[in-house]
Amino acid sequence: MCGIAGYVGKKAVAPLLIEGLKRLEYRGYDSAGLALNANNQLYLEKAAGKVVELEKCVNAQPGLNELTGCGIAHTRWATHGRPTAVNAHPHLDGSNRFAVVHNGIIENYQELRRYLEGKNVHFRSETDSEVLVHLIAEAYEGNLLSAVAAALKQVKGTYGIAVISTLEPGLIVTARNGSPIVIGLGNGENLVASDVSPLLPYTSKVIYLNDGDIAAVYADKVDLRNINNMPVEREVARIDWDASAAEKGRYEHFMLKEIFEQPEAISNAIRGRLDAENGCSILNGLNLTPRDLAQISRIVIAGCGSSMHAGLLGEYYFEDIAGISTSVEQAAEFRYRNPIIEPNTLVIPISQSGETADTLAAVREAIRKGAVVTALCNVVGSTIAREAGRGIYLHAGPEMSVASTKGFTTQVAVLLLLALLLGRNRRLSRSEGIELVKQIEAVPDLIRSVLEQAPLIEEIAKRYAQVENFFYIGRGCLYPAALEGALKLKEISYIHAEGYHAAELKHGPISLLDENHPVLALANDVLGKDKIIGNIQECRARKAPVIALVAQGDTRVRSMTQDVIEIPQCSRFIAPLPSVVAMQLFAYYVAVARGCEIDQPRNLAKSVTVE
Ligand code: M6R
Repeated sequence: MCGIAGYVGKKAVAPLLIEGLKRLEYRGYDSAGLALNANNQLYLEKAAGKVVELEKCVNAQPGLNELTGCGIAHTRWATHGRPTAVNAHPHLDGSNRFAVVHNGIIENYQELRRYLEGKNVHFRSETDSEVLVHLIAEAYEGNLLSAVAAALKQVKGTYGIAVISTLEPGLIVTARNGSPIVIGLGNGENLVASDVSPLLPYTSKVIYLNDGDIAAVYADKVDLRNINNMPVEREVARIDWDASAAEKGRYEHFMLKEIFEQPEAISNAIRGRLDAENGCSILNGLNLTPRDLAQISRIVIAGCGSSMHAGLLGEYYFEDIAGISTSVEQAAEFRYRNPIIEPNTLVIPISQSGETADTLAAVREAIRKGAVVTALCNVVGSTIAREAGRGIYLHAGPEMSVASTKGFTTQVAVLLLLALLLGRNRRLSRSEGIELVKQIEAVPDLIRSVLEQAPLIEEIAKRYAQVENFFYIGRGCLYPAALEGALKLKEISYIHAEGYHAAELKHGPISLLDENHPVLALANDVLGKDKIIGNIQECRARKAPVIALVAQGDTRVRSMTQDVIEIPQCSRFIAPLPSVVAMQLFAYYVAVARGCEIDQPRNLAKSVTVE
């Protein structure tokens, strides 16, 4: 959940690493640090708080910003040890000749720490990671890569690490087991990172390490090995994201930028994948023949957070459009619940980042049980995408804000494409398929018309910014949308928000309602409209203020509340998409009005790589 950046080459190292950490900050942001290897010594700076705090420390050291050579840096999301400067990475050995940054968890660190303390090693921090640097120093016999490999052999747990030493200037040793590492190949310079975002300004050529890989990265070459020091070959991949995609541009926050990018993101997600003539979709990455598709008897979807909410919509789509029995698993439960997976079960892990630990564990379990696995990921080359072996990329572009926006809506769009394909393979007629194609093609425009209402949504948001509790209610496909809307609000505004099925309110939670407990009702579903109107009346009867999302032209709901957001009319399958965009904007403006940190809410990290 933390971020790693490393550089070796001719450029000044510190500013480049700070820039890299800023691009990685969405992965963790409670403390940060860097170590530079120059002039036969290690220069270390660490700070609690965000990367700007580290930047201030670096700027305060005369000459540090000019140093060339190599360096490693880290932004942390605390697991073991408080978020203090001392616990920030890099960690140094007692002789200050080795520095290590680490993502992951060393499970046997207490045992290793006892062993090292028995040898009079002095520990400075409370972290599990610090054992690594002492083990490396102990194992060093003239070759840094061999020392790192020897240390890692003693470790149980997960790691993505980068190591430097004054004993071997101009070298970064990096290794991975369960925590991603990618090497960026430059011209006379090379980079190391925990994901591609810090590499984007410098190169589009990358090597993704596999678990068990270890690499010696010099400015002019990369030596790839396995942990037993045997050479390995890895493909050089190309990243097609450009650097500006990971910048805020004219927007104040990444979240707002990403909300407004959704029409384009969805166009990219569906481009070339719709066959309007045959009313079908074309999903080459699936790698399944029509016969394979016809044999699928069940679908199991696994994901976390917003990705699981997208999965809940997938359940509606696969059952209703394709007639395939579908269930959705919280990825964290998947491998512990021993789910029934038969040879014809299609398991669909959904993950924007492609690195979420629980979803990855679900992928491994599904593969172990012999399922057909097809991943929906956004980040190309991510661990889940690679381990699943087949899948559909979202093409949403980099999502930097911790709160998922375009990641979620492109997941839903891709699930619709998959349901269309499976449906046409079974019970969906050509004309029904053609109709669904038209509806999917219209989504970017539907979202645009919601975005045009941003000023109105902002106005409503300001009126509700000071409440402390919220219910979000919906029915049918708008029920998962309600869950997603509530998650957005609580995540960034710290308002307690619960998503509920509108009918469930009466089974307990309605007792909470009063004039201080508003309800956001998704009343724009043509099918369930009468019922949700009844639910809104129940809320109003308890004096609860109601914000309603209504279908354009609605008059009935309008007569019950003044706070109304119009959603363009569309089918029940499509309605969650523009509705969620309206709720993203609502959450955003509430959080802004409350003065909250938008892109990096407290306690969170973009990609949750620990269980
Ligand atoms: O990268 P993933 O899609 O696997 O991430 C899953 C969740 O951690 C993520 O959706 C999280 O819930 C978001 N912060 C919600 O906005």
